[in-house]
Amino acid sequence: MKSIVVKNRYGLDNVTIEEQVIPTIRANEVLVKVQAVSFNQLDLMIVKGAFGTSLPHTLGSDAAGIVEEIGTAVTNFQVGDVVATHFIQDWQSGDLKSEDLASRLGTSVKEVFSEYIALPESSLVKIPKNLSPAEASTLPIAGLTAWEAIVNLGKLKAGQTVLLQGTGGVSIFALQFAKALGAKVIITSSSNDKLEMAKKLGADEVINYAEIADWQMKVLEFTEGKGVDLALEMSWADMGKTIEGMKLGGKIVVIGLLGGANANLSVFGILQKALSVLGSQVGSKSSFEVMNKAIEVNNIKPVVDKEFTINQLSEALAYFEEGKHFGKVVLEF
Ligand SMILES: NC(=O)c1ccc[n+]([C@@H]2O[C@H](COP(=O)([O-])OP(=O)(O)OC[C@H]3O[C@@H](n4cnc5c(N)ncnc54)[C@H](OP(=O)(O)O)[C@@H]3O)[C@@H](O)[C@H]2O)c1
Repeated sequence: MKSIVVKNRYGLDNVTIEEQVIPTIRANEVLVKVQAVSFNQLDLMIVKGAFGTSLPHTLGSDAAGIVEEIGTAVTNFQVGDVVATHFIQDWQSGDLKSEDLASRLGTSVKEVFSEYIALPESSLVKIPKNLSPAEASTLPIAGLTAWEAIVNLGKLKAGQTVLLQGTGGVSIFALQFAKALGAKVIITSSSNDKLEMAKKLGADEVINYAEIADWQMKVLEFTEGKGVDLALEMSWADMGKTIEGMKLGGKIVVIGLLGGANANLSVFGILQKALSVLGSQVGSKSSFEVMNKAIEVNNIKPVVDKEFTINQLSEALAYFEEGKHFGKVVLEF
């Protein structure tokens, strides 16, 4: 079977397709024939050596496919079910425990960018009935991270306003969930074309952060000087601006560090506005299942910017790294 592997050195040039042996399953495991995978910033970080992962290393956290075989102790899946991978395998429900973090798929644990994968049944969910495997391959990290931020941590309500930064996978899912809840969305991007696409998806106000350095002033203008109830922080370098755009008592869910891990930040805004700043780690399996119900009921379709085939692997990785995408980038096996 084909697998996507970082060979002997870090770097996108060293990611290749290799032949590996189809895995055999244990009693509690399911063999999945992968139909599609989606890329995350995590994959790029691993490729570039940010985690010092030992090489050669098979990549991948997000996949969806069809159940080909089930182990003798498997009870929740049947051959033919269409399933997606659950990222933090041991976070099944309730609060995240520190030991759960060691079970993150793709971080040297059960990588999934292969034609066939063998996973415990607890590491899989059935996909929403309204989605194709390619669409469902976008859910495990980006979809669930957005759901966790908007619903579980942010507790966003109809009529409230959320600020989303950039138009990548997490932000675009967050836009769709926020609109389904009846909230108002302000979204930023470095591209006016992408902002037009965001408006078509329901964004109420848009700001080009590349053209307007003090974009937080526009956020205040759009909210009559009050600020937003919730912000999903993607940059961290711009956290000071996010704080300025917040309402008294608002919540900031910190998700990404696209601008770097070290912000020159004053604490005064957080204190004066009595803000809640919440870190986030994707989500639990039970949240994944609740999200999938909501996706079905509201007929939400993940935004797949581009689908590549496995033969276009280098092109697909380069496209994702350049940040040309709006929503998600998918690779079909
Ligand atoms: N905490 C967690 O559990 C968790 C889970 C998933 C992802 N993440 C992190 O969240 C971030 C976003 O993930 P993603 O999957 O949505 O990534 P993505 O699909 O690659 O999207 C990134 C987008 O963010 C925008 N952007 C780039 N640099 C920016 C900056 N300095 N300030 C503001 N926006 C910027 C760009 O949008 P435009 O082209 O529109 O400008 C870019 O396309 C990444 O840092 C990722 O590692 C964390």
